[in-house]
Amino acid sequence: MKKTVALGVSSSVGIYKACEVLRGFQKAGVEVRVVMTPNAARLISPLLFSSLAGTRTIVDLFEEPEARTIQHVALAKEISLLCVAPATANVIGKFAGGVADDFLTTLFLATRAPVLVAPAMNEAMVLHPRTQANIARLRALGVEFVEPAQGYLACGDQGWGRLAEPEAIVREGLRILGRTESLKGTTVLVTAGPTREPLDPVRFLSNPSSGKMGYELAREAVARGAKTILISGPTSLIPPAGARTVLVNTAAEMEKACLKAFPKADIVVMAAAVSDFRFKETRDRKAAKGEIGPSLAVEKTPDILAALGRRKKPGQLLVGFAAETHDVLAHARKKLEVKNADLMVANAVGNGRAFGTDDNAVRIIARKGPVQETGTMSKREASRVIFDRIEAELEKKRR
Ligand code: CTP
Repeated sequence: MKKTVALGVSSSVGIYKACEVLRGFQKAGVEVRVVMTPNAARLISPLLFSSLAGTRTIVDLFEEPEARTIQHVALAKEISLLCVAPATANVIGKFAGGVADDFLTTLFLATRAPVLVAPAMNEAMVLHPRTQANIARLRALGVEFVEPAQGYLACGDQGWGRLAEPEAIVREGLRILGRTESLKGTTVLVTAGPTREPLDPVRFLSNPSSGKMGYELAREAVARGAKTILISGPTSLIPPAGARTVLVNTAAEMEKACLKAFPKADIVVMAAAVSDFRFKETRDRKAAKGEIGPSLAVEKTPDILAALGRRKKPGQLLVGFAAETHDVLAHARKKLEVKNADLMVANAVGNGRAFGTDDNAVRIIARKGPVQETGTMSKREASRVIFDRIEAELEKKRR
């Protein structure tokens, strides 16, 4: 089926290049709907884009729609990508702040499609800490960027801020479009969050996992078209749209849910920080302090990843996480072997790292080959790197 891209056009002088971006997508067989900001429509007539696109350019949020629909919501559902080129500092700021006062900024909030932004502005504006903070905030939400280039700027200055070349923008857009179906027909099982092992109804043993990494991974699997099952321990996060979320509490409950879903899963990503121990004895009623002795007996919880590793069929790909405070790689390699995983994502934890944070630096380890290092990035971006690697590994496995 033909895919549709919404091309967002805002009022930078680089606007003339938007015509080439539009053509580039069309040449690749992609349908383009152009959405202009009111200021952009003062620079170039929307008519030019309408004639190139073969559909009416949208500028006004309150225009009478063609059919009985709410236009920005209808378009938001129809598109497979929102590509904004050129994007001014103003549009980037509004996206980052959640301001929706015209069609384009409303579309940004209304769509679940991936978003690609190609900034174009004066160098001082690009490098302004406010703009950089807005870009970082959007990256953390999953928005991707085509970096502006160096060269002559409209203001006569030379420097950073020129809109990237249209071919580069289209290339990136098509890459993202390809990714939206790269896991179609595949079932992905992701676990996330901590588990809680109760002592009594008010006390438990757990760890500080926030679940953010796992939730981002589930979000990424959905974005790539996979049937996604998220098995989550207790977190304060909103379940990702499009995934089937199963909420559990204890390691035993997580194991049960995983074993049930496992036979149909092509890919399993065990991002959960499963509690390693549970109390040997639990109570149905709150125990008074005096009733609890100076020591409490604990026992090991089931190792879910290892159990899945034993059941793994040749076509299934198993990914584990290794949270380590020291000797990160050596420990992760050992866990990869012992638990029969295909990939291990290692991250350093402790001292404020990884647990509960928005950023993560991960190292991906396979049985063979070099270690892949990401450097520090948002968990949103890390989930993309991890799934790119998972797809490459799955392809190798199925070749
Ligand atoms: N894991 C699991 N079940 C457990 C413990 C861990 O499935 N009971 C999984 C985690 O989800 C993770 C991987 O195993 O994908 C490694 O978890 P980690 O806590 O680092 O390893 P442990 O095996 O618990 O080793 P240790 O605590 O001794 O370092």
